[in-house]
Amino acid sequence: MCGIVGYIGGEQAAPILLNGLTKLEYRGYDSAGIAVFDGREIRMEKVSGRLQRLKEATGNGAALPGTIGIGHTRWATHGSPSDTNAHPHFNKDRSIVVVHNGIIENYVRLKQHLEKHGYEFVSETDTEVLAHLLDYYYGRTKNPLSALCRVMQKVEGSYALGILFKDYPDTIYAARKDSPLIVGSSRDGNFIASDVPAILQYTRDVFYMENEEIAVLTRDVVSFYSMDEEPVEKSPVHIDWDVNAAEKGGYEHFLLKEIYEQPRAVRDTLSPRIRGGQIVIEELGMSDEEIRSIDKIMIVACGSAYHTGVMAKYIFEGVARVPVEVDLASEYRYRDPIFGARTLVIVVSQSGETADSLAALRESRAHGQKVLGIVNVVGSSIAREADNVMYTWAGPEISVATTKAYSAQLAAFYLLAMKFGQARGALEDSVFSEMLASLEKLPDQMEEILKNRESIQRFANRYLAAEHIFFIGRGIDYAISMEGSLKLKEISYIHSEAYAAGELKHGTISLIEEGTLVVAVATQEKLYLKMTSNIEEVKTRGAFVMALTNEGNKDIEKVSDFTLYVPETNRYFAGSLAIIPLQLFAYYVSLGRGLDVDKPRNLAKSVTVE
Ligand code: F6R
Repeated sequence: MCGIVGYIGGEQAAPILLNGLTKLEYRGYDSAGIAVFDGREIRMEKVSGRLQRLKEATGNGAALPGTIGIGHTRWATHGSPSDTNAHPHFNKDRSIVVVHNGIIENYVRLKQHLEKHGYEFVSETDTEVLAHLLDYYYGRTKNPLSALCRVMQKVEGSYALGILFKDYPDTIYAARKDSPLIVGSSRDGNFIASDVPAILQYTRDVFYMENEEIAVLTRDVVSFYSMDEEPVEKSPVHIDWDVNAAEKGGYEHFLLKEIYEQPRAVRDTLSPRIRGGQIVIEELGMSDEEIRSIDKIMIVACGSAYHTGVMAKYIFEGVARVPVEVDLASEYRYRDPIFGARTLVIVVSQSGETADSLAALRESRAHGQKVLGIVNVVGSSIAREADNVMYTWAGPEISVATTKAYSAQLAAFYLLAMKFGQARGALEDSVFSEMLASLEKLPDQMEEILKNRESIQRFANRYLAAEHIFFIGRGIDYAISMEGSLKLKEISYIHSEAYAAGELKHGTISLIEEGTLVVAVATQEKLYLKMTSNIEEVKTRGAFVMALTNEGNKDIEKVSDFTLYVPETNRYFAGSLAIIPLQLFAYYVSLGRGLDVDKPRNLAKSVTVE
């Protein structure tokens, strides 16, 4: 996600800001900018592309004098990567400047309100709303802290903010809600940053800001306030990490960090699209009537994104009663698919640059098909070329094996399937409401599962020397098995296969021998008994069975050697919970085998060749 740095002190600010932004490069970005106050005016430089361009444009900061400033690396969400959309953003007379990390969910409404009051917008970002809204309330309150509190009361969504007011040349204002922000303090000045690495070179004394807190930094003093403008007492934490560990937020690997970011990624993908008990997907660009008229959905993707498509087939067909075909993009583009009169093609991709998925998109459009992209990287090729794009808000994924983008893709599919189900009259209102309630609980349930990683690690350590591991499941559990198996093989290099549990006996069961580990996924209540039989079949042939099932399903425990439980949710959403223990299992096997978890051999994060 975006990176924020701010500095106020005795040194020239710009080089410190650029240095801090460099330390945040690992977070991923597509443009960068800084704003520095030189005592007379706030001067800004911002560019799309690499930070190096910003360094060149400012002579490594030398061109911007002043000892107070804010900087930002942007990872595009609203509006493509461009100089104009890069942060910081000014109010109309350049007396207030803002950097922002997060998503302002109600920015369209706020923008309309501000436009009515004569505000003009120059960028496509949600952030610019904040600059004008601060201006609006500063005009009324004449007090930066009060103005910021008013803005925070109006804004829905997530934010970490760094703000300069020209009228207050010796103060940085900062605030956060659901996006990280820390305050660093040293004898030579004070800092704000999205993450510890940005300021580690200058200080190790850090205040962690809580949700809806405000920080006011002068050169010598840092004060904290609540949204009611009440002072808040905070104590600094002394950071012992080295720079390497700090980049990973204290986690040993990016993969583990990203596994832990999943509740946030899912929450960010869901919450802007759930409003007043309804699902609102503006970017779908389809009326209910158009949704009703669709005769077929074709989902096309590669790897893990394909696995979300396999899962989505069960959900769309069950919830919206619309036929779904799922294709590997590399097969689809050469198979001469048959489109219906009103087929919707959905291309799913984290990077938005996967060559086969992009080719499949182009092939579909060449046949006159409407294409919806489910994409994580804003402004990527698939996002640009699709007719409509629904973004997953997972943030940049650094580890090669996907985790949080996969989970965010599933979340996007849940929303789509429910929206389709409702529009097509296939989902009763009461069922819809129950599903929505379950959906909103998912991020918290994911957090619960993440608290219990030790037992998975202990179990994984017993299988470091395994040669083959099988994953079995039925229906949605088969789709989960496919992803669990891919995660394991790509980062642990252990041969693994996912099988539809009922299909094993048609050949593959001959590979089961004494001690072979079989992971049996059983979250679908109506298939428990069938899964119990399949577990018995492999156990009879010597398999050691680890079952992954819902809390309360004691019958599966009786036939399995080791059982992991996940909380109960609506059956269509079970994949989002069951995948977490499987990701952790793969992670700990890879770790135990001493492998390069984040950069497994032979793999690339974005596969831009056929
Ligand atoms: C597996 C993995 C890959 C990707 C696949 C598609 O962990 O990351 O299988 O899912 O290469 O990539 P995107 O989603 O970028 O199109």
